Amino acid sequence: METQPFTDWGAQLRRMRPEDLEQVLAIEQRNFHEPWTRRSFLAEIETAPLSQPLVVVYENQLAAYIVPWFIADELQIANVAVHEDFRRRGLARQLIMHVCDLAQRRNCRVAHLEVRRSNTAASRLYESLGFQITTVRRNYYGPNEEALLMSKNLTPLASTNTNGIVSPG
Ligand SMILES: CC(C)(COP(=O)(O)OP(=O)(O)OC[C@H]1O[C@@H](n2cnc3c(N)ncnc32)[C@H](O)[C@@H]1OP(=O)(O)O)[C@@H](O)C(=O)NCCC(=O)NCCS
Repeated sequence: METQPFTDWGAQLRRMRPEDLEQVLAIEQRNFHEPWTRRSFLAEIETAPLSQPLVVVYENQLAAYIVPWFIADELQIANVAVHEDFRRRGLARQLIMHVCDLAQRRNCRVAHLEVRRSNTAASRLYESLGFQITTVRRNYYGPNEEALLMSKNLTPLASTNTNGIVSPG
């Protein structure tokens, strides 16, 4: 995937690269109790096309990233975060919509993710996008910290192969 325009204020979307990891890890470490390591992000970069980590960049600053897994006919959103300076501008919403769209083109039928119940910003975001709680795992992240498993049905689309030929979904 080439770098492509992502917002009307000049942010761009592209695949995550090893040279992004310094900025990715800084965001990751500020925002997660159990942050992913450099090695785990490198493994994601190398696992394409099953995993397709993406970043949003604005003037050389890494604004956001997302790690979607496309497994058979399911999308799993394994990680998503937005730099504090770029929040509430719709980046996370747009990133999730983008990977759901990619998943539909790959004929995925459902999207899944997991979130701490205490993470109201994230759970409101997911609810606003139509994700619904399917399972509650009590004490999953420690005492009194529940994990919410959330899912959203997707509509598989007809896919286009590399020759531009459309095949039925
Ligand atoms: C959760 C997170 C990804 C949201 O990113 P964002 O780009 O600021 O979110 P968006 O601007 O796309 O917000 C979309 C909607 O989500 C909800 N939302 C986002 N942040 C919120 C907040 N702090 N409080 C309440 N609702 C919030 C709102 O409904 C918002 O719509 P609105 O701005 O029109 O009200 C970001 O806060 C973040 O990186 N948090 C730390 C990492 C994290 O928790 N990742 C998710 C792990 S499951």
